[in-house]
Amino acid sequence: MTKITETNNNFSNSNRRTFIRNSAISMAGIALLRSKVFAMAAEMGLKDLYKDDFLVGTAIGSRTLMQPDSEMLDLIVREFNQVTSENAMKWASIHPKENEWKFEEPDKLVEFAGKNKMAVQGHVLVWHSQVPRDIFTGPDGNQASKELLLKRMETHIQTVVDRYKGRVNSWDVVNEAITPEDGFRKSKWLEICGPEYLEKAFYLAHEADPKCELIYNDYNEEDPKRRDFIVELVKEYKKKGVPIHGIGLQGHLNLESPDLKLWEQAIEAYASVGMKISITELEVDVLPYDWSRSAEISSNAAYRETLNPYKDGLPKEIDDKLTKRYEDIFKILLKHRDVVDRVTFWGASDDLSWKNNFPMRGRTNYPLLFDRQHKPKNAYFAVAGLKK
Ligand code: GLA
Repeated sequence: MTKITETNNNFSNSNRRTFIRNSAISMAGIALLRSKVFAMAAEMGLKDLYKDDFLVGTAIGSRTLMQPDSEMLDLIVREFNQVTSENAMKWASIHPKENEWKFEEPDKLVEFAGKNKMAVQGHVLVWHSQVPRDIFTGPDGNQASKELLLKRMETHIQTVVDRYKGRVNSWDVVNEAITPEDGFRKSKWLEICGPEYLEKAFYLAHEADPKCELIYNDYNEEDPKRRDFIVELVKEYKKKGVPIHGIGLQGHLNLESPDLKLWEQAIEAYASVGMKISITELEVDVLPYDWSRSAEISSNAAYRETLNPYKDGLPKEIDDKLTKRYEDIFKILLKHRDVVDRVTFWGASDDLSWKNNFPMRGRTNYPLLFDRQHKPKNAYFAVAGLKK
């Protein structure tokens, strides 16, 4: 009896010791695991939730990157795995004069992205806006010749694309060159070179970095006339072997427009001619605006007030609409995840959005997923919720 008891006791003691040792390990392990899980949850951003679907990115402005705003940069690293420079890679910024180049900010962006394993969108090589006007002027002060302008374009594209070769994953090669009214936009580029400047830009970018994805980017591409023109152009380019790989839909959307059915049809139409889709500049403007009354804005203070109705906060009803709008947008994007490569917001938080100053200066807009305190909004949780 005694022996047995002793034996039992011995066994018990040894078991207890092992148990205590193991439990100590497992209790500590569990505590560690718990804290890891919490830390991971805190570190999880949209990029993680959407990792099997598409890249989720944001544009970064100079203030954020160059000051730098480390709180905002941390938020960006947590939430996004792709970045676009809001302005610094545009021709007027990076190449303001014939022999002057400004690489400091773009270099910093590419370095930041590299360090944080983020993809970079180059924005933009050829555009009618934010380009120094003197590129269209010849040495005699008259309009530049076609040869001269194309030569300038060649130098620009070769220099910029080559500098970031292998570090910029895709380039917006041409921006906003097509309108529903005219087909090719009546820009200086078109006037001097004819439509061939577009395809030449694609060839040059491809030569400079053959592995880079090359995109045609524009706004309101759900407009059937613009859409059909782009589709025909892509077909022609594919026949000729012009290296175009994707269509960028800027995605400057409003609460009510465009009709998302049309938006989805545009995605399908571009995909049907072999194009990958990037949403390149997404946001949802919640403020009223009437283009036909723009002239009144400077003279009519009362009217101006009506265009800025949410100075003191967004009413719940409008926030609900915004949330639903974002949810609907992301449902469409998820449905087409096989062709959608990337979704980039045009900024991260409401306070930093260009939409506070466009199309009218000094308004309080709420177009993004993070509020003015940089906290996630209901729209954020709706977008995240689609993946939980
Ligand atoms: C266009 C351009 C962007 C940016 C926005 C407004 O969509 O492509 O680079 O300038 O307008 O900020």
